[in-house]
Amino acid sequence: MAVIFSGIQPSGELTLGNYLGALRNFLDYQDDNECYYCIVNQHAITVPQDPKELFENTRKLAALYLAVGLDPKKVTLFVQSEVPEHAKLGWVMNTISYVGELERMTQYKDKSQKRGDSIPAGLLTYPPLMAADILLYQTNYVPVGEDQRQHMELTRDLAQRFNRVYGEVFTIPEIKTGIGGARVMSLQEPTKKMSKSDDNQLATIRLLDDEKTIVKKIKRAQTDSDNSVHYDKENKPGISNLMGIYAAITKTPYETIESEYAGKGYGVFKKDVADLIVGALVPIQTRYNELINSPELDTILDEGAAKAHEKAAKTYRQVELAMGLHRK
Ligand code: TYM
Repeated sequence: MAVIFSGIQPSGELTLGNYLGALRNFLDYQDDNECYYCIVNQHAITVPQDPKELFENTRKLAALYLAVGLDPKKVTLFVQSEVPEHAKLGWVMNTISYVGELERMTQYKDKSQKRGDSIPAGLLTYPPLMAADILLYQTNYVPVGEDQRQHMELTRDLAQRFNRVYGEVFTIPEIKTGIGGARVMSLQEPTKKMSKSDDNQLATIRLLDDEKTIVKKIKRAQTDSDNSVHYDKENKPGISNLMGIYAAITKTPYETIESEYAGKGYGVFKKDVADLIVGALVPIQTRYNELINSPELDTILDEGAAKAHEKAAKTYRQVELAMGLHRK
């Protein structure tokens, strides 16, 4: 049985990008693998968070994990801060990371640019904590979107570096990106990824957006003026992004979409894309609304944290022994 680990930050309402690039793919593993899915709230605080919102978003994200169809009997669902080994191994990973390699991370460059002179140190040391998340569970595969590739490469480097210096402790994990949807772009600036934290509300589809809002956002999505449904990421990023969404939901190749919409124009295509998104999200929203106030959610997270802790503590003990951090 392979071990699967992934995490999502409770740092705002999830987007269609989070769903198509990650969450949806988590389902593929739950029947035949040992799966750990985490709400990474300690990653979320690497940029300022409103405490009340962070608290609420943690619960919302747990409900969404379940609403997409993850079964708590099959997977371990938990909150990062409730398993202290994440912070402990995160520190260890910091001590074997080089400042230069952390400064080269594109996500750090993007996020730190917006912070002027007050860049939280946690933004720089975010990737070693992510490595700790993954390595604690002796993970084989990490399903994530394309934007996490660089962090995954660093995770592998850190695991190999540790093993070389202190002996074989960690399994070397591999990234798994889904087919289509691995990089959903902003609806307003389609050369930029769709992001939870975008201030322009028209740029992102939220998983809890209602039908009317979804239709409006797709209708107003940026495209070009030649009105031909044709995949060309360089020259037609807007329509190519909508085609990417269509392809990810229906698992249709681009050539088939192109021939289906030949001569039909963007209006017809956009309407169909909106219908597909509504069709995918409405059942999730219905289940979400049933779950969000249920006390069952707390039981699931309590049990998840206990199970995760059991495995994480074993790995962390090996780390202590390997490094001489132990006394007995
Ligand atoms: P986060 O919370 O930003 O995003 C959660 C997941 O959604 C994917 N994603 C996208 N996929 C396609 N198109 C997009 N526009 C898009 N936006 C986001 C992300 O790739 C991710 O899979 N560093 C991680 C959280 C994390 C983690 C981990 C992940 C912390 N520890 C350990 C895996 C394993 C992050 O920022 O995700």
